[in-house]
Amino acid sequence: MKIFAHRGASGEAPENTLAAFELALAQGAEAIELDLQRFADRILVLHDRWLHHTTSGQGLLANQSAQSLAQVDAGDGQPIPDLWQVLEMCAGRCQLNLELKGHDLLPVLVPMLDRAVAELGWQPEDLLISSFHHRQLAAFQAMKPHWPIGLLISHIPLDLPCMLGPLKVSSLHLDCAFVDKALVFEAQALGLKVYAYTADEPEDLHRLALMGIDGVFTNYPARSRQWLHSHIT
Ligand code: G3P
Ligand code: MG
Repeated sequence: MKIFAHRGASGEAPENTLAAFELALAQGAEAIELDLQRFADRILVLHDRWLHHTTSGQGLLANQSAQSLAQVDAGDGQPIPDLWQVLEMCAGRCQLNLELKGHDLLPVLVPMLDRAVAELGWQPEDLLISSFHHRQLAAFQAMKPHWPIGLLISHIPLDLPCMLGPLKVSSLHLDCAFVDKALVFEAQALGLKVYAYTADEPEDLHRLALMGIDGVFTNYPARSRQWLHSHIT
């Protein structure tokens, strides 16, 4: 089962910071999930558009100045990283799952990904783009038809093929609270990988493993991997 370090090793370091990503790498994570927000011509690694949810800042991200943002503490004195820093840090070391938050990332993100491939040696298959914003994923796929995309959903669709529509999706990313074996089976029969977020506890890991899930997002990548290795054959 594939293990994604959710927002880095965010159970033990501040989420979506370089420290959380370094810790995930030190713990041997094969894949790291991170959240992306656009700020002017930058792509920031940040879950929320409201700064106070995860940082020392206040107010909306869109209302900040570059100067005020530089002072923000994302935890343990860590700044909010730029995506480019993470791409540099993780090149050749793990896969990344870039979760697009917001609706307007592509004009900045796509040229940055092109640069990451050209200058840092990233392969598209190691940069999985996912989002709850399916129209943004469709726009990305129109520009980059050969890149893998992951469809995030927070519901059980009535009709999975209908929901997928014309998108060529490589993985379905589901809330572990409601994922069930029937949906996993149906998605896998359509050729999709199925990944569930966020699974930190043995009960969830066990239940997901039994339903044949392909991977989990966890805030404790080392602990979750160790539990799976010792309990699931
Ligand atoms: O990408 C999986 C998961 O991170 C989606 O939810 O709110 O943790 O970004 P959230
Ligand atoms: Mg996320």
